[in-house]
Amino acid sequence: MLGRRGQLARELERACWPAGWQPQFAGRDRIDLAKPEQAGARVAGEYPGLVINAAAYTAVDQAESEPEIAMRINGQAPAAIARACAALHAPLVTVSTDYVFDGTKPVPYTEEDEVRPVSAYGRSKAEGEAGVRRANGCHLILRTSWVFSRFGANFVKTMLRLGAERDSLAVVADQRGKPTAASDLAQAIILASSTLMANRTVAGTYHVANEEATTWHDFAQEIFDGAKARGVRTAELRAITTAEYPTPARRPANSELATDKFSRIFSYRFRSWREPLSEVLDELLPSSAASRAS
Ligand SMILES: NC(=O)c1ccc[n+]([C@@H]2O[C@H](COP(=O)([O-])OP(=O)(O)OC[C@H]3O[C@@H](n4cnc5c(N)ncnc54)[C@H](OP(=O)(O)O)[C@@H]3O)[C@@H](O)[C@H]2O)c1
Repeated sequence: MLGRRGQLARELERACWPAGWQPQFAGRDRIDLAKPEQAGARVAGEYPGLVINAAAYTAVDQAESEPEIAMRINGQAPAAIARACAALHAPLVTVSTDYVFDGTKPVPYTEEDEVRPVSAYGRSKAEGEAGVRRANGCHLILRTSWVFSRFGANFVKTMLRLGAERDSLAVVADQRGKPTAASDLAQAIILASSTLMANRTVAGTYHVANEEATTWHDFAQEIFDGAKARGVRTAELRAITTAEYPTPARRPANSELATDKFSRIFSYRFRSWREPLSEVLDELLPSSAASRAS
C-alpha cells in the first residue's frame, strides 16, 4: 500500500483489518514517488501480490508553480510502478481524479469520456492514468472526487475552521461535483481489489464517488448545518462565482462522475455523501455528538 498518512491511506488502514487484510503501508520515507524509477524498483523488490497506490501530489493550486514535481509523483511514478507490477504479474490499483476532465460537459462524466485536464494537477493525474495503461498489466484506475475525511487536510475541516474564525464566508456556487468520503472510497477499493484478485477480467477504469452532485457552496451549507446541529459556531455563507474567487489552478465547472459502471460490475450501491459527512462531523466534533446523544 503506497501512502501512510493521507486521508485515503488512513481510511484504508481502518478498513483493512475488519476485511481481514494485513497490508504493508509504505510511506514516502520508504518509497518516494518523487523518484519514479527508484519507486518502481522498490516496489519490484517487495514482490507484492497486489499494490494499492493511495499516495499522490494533491496540492491542486501549488501544482501550478511546481508542475514537474506533480508530474513525477502523479505521472511518472504510477507508470514506473505499473511497469514493475506488470513484470511481477501483480495487479495494481491506483486512484485518479475528476480533474482529468475540463468540466464543459453538461451531464455526468462517464469512463468513456475523453480526458482534457485544465490544470497542472489534472495533467499529471491524466499522465499517470496513461502510463498505467501503457504498462499493459492488470490494473484498476479508480477516479474519485472532492475527498473528505476526519484525517488530513480537506474542505470539511477547512470550513469548520473558517466557520469558527469568521462571521461570513464566501464559497463558490458554480462548480459542481460529488463529495466523496475517504471511508467509502476505501470500502470500494477493498471490494474492487478483492474482486480483481479473483477475476482479472474486471480490470479497467471506473468512477467511484458518493451519490448526489452538489456545489462547493451547498456542500459548505450542509457542513455548517451539521456543525450548528452539534452546537458549534459557524459563519454566514455567501454564494459567489468562480470568477469572484480566482485561484492559481483552473477547476472544472462540472466534474460530476457517473458511477453506474462501478455499481454494476461490483454490485455496489453508493450512498449519498450526506451520510458519511454526518459520521465525519460526529468524529470531528465528538463532545457535541455525545451531548446530543445524552
Ligand atoms: N483530496 C481530494 O479531494 C481528491 C480528489 C480527487 C482525487 N483524489 C485522489 O485520491 C487519492 C488520495 O488522495 P488523499 O485525499 O488521500 O490525499 P492526501 O490526503 O493529500 O494524501 C496524499 C498522500 O500521498 C503521499 N505522498 C505525497 N507525496 C509523496 C511522495 N513524494 N512519495 C510518497 N508518498 C507521497 C502523502 O504522504 P505523507 O503522509 O508522507 O505526506 C500522503 O499519504 C489521490 O490519488 C488523489 O489524487 C483526491
